Amino acid sequence: MNVIEAIQARKSVRKFKDEVVPKEDILKMLELATEAPSPKHQQNWNFVVLTNREIINKMADIVTESHERLGQIAKTEKDRKIHMSVIKYYTCFRNAPAVVMVYGSEYKMIEYKILKENDASQEVLDTLVSPQSAAQGIGAAVENFLLAATEMGYGTCYMTGPTHAKVEIEILIGFDKPGFELMSMIALGVAEENTAPKPPRKPLEEVVTFID
Ligand SMILES: Cc1cc2nc3c(=O)[nH]c(=O)nc-3n(C[C@H](O)[C@H](O)[C@H](O)COP(=O)(O)O)c2cc1C
Repeated sequence: MNVIEAIQARKSVRKFKDEVVPKEDILKMLELATEAPSPKHQQNWNFVVLTNREIINKMADIVTESHERLGQIAKTEKDRKIHMSVIKYYTCFRNAPAVVMVYGSEYKMIEYKILKENDASQEVLDTLVSPQSAAQGIGAAVENFLLAATEMGYGTCYMTGPTHAKVEIEILIGFDKPGFELMSMIALGVAEENTAPKPPRKPLEEVVTFID
């Protein structure tokens, strides 16, 4: 499989076979993830690999509870129901053989510091950070991981939905690295047969502009 074929074959997988993913395979995917570009090469990522089914499923319970708690903010029963209707989307990592937790730290921008010290307006400072470079670097690494996993015969799902429970998740898994926060997670395993197909894309005419 070449890179183009891996890009085309990758799709989000939310149901997995009960098969262990060997540690050396996960390490290979992570090594390839870290080949990604990152802003000023700060490599502001950190990965925590969970392979214990009990912990993974407890994490799904924690995300559900957190989602329910957030749902209490909704003022009507109808809104609470709509809020809860996406819970499967946030907990599809339940029963996955592995989940890779992706942590990120701040992108240190020297010019931000200089301009702030020189009393730049908040508008100028906001413009500097609006590309969210730290998050973009994390996304590049995750995509590399997904493509490597596809090439190696695994299914994945890139997820940010469960991160609202990051505080409770950190207590569960006992991970606390100062300066790092949970940005996303990747459900990983051998895909079940007949998982949902990749949804169609918007036509290029809708999303591309050439300026000659
Ligand atoms: C930043 C990001 C966050 C996502 N979060 C979730 C999530 O929380 N739960 C989920 O099931 N899928 C999540 N997805 C997967 C998308 O739903 C999926 O990529 C999209 O529907 C297109 O389908 P495909 O990946 O099969 O091409 C996320 C994808 C991205 C890029």
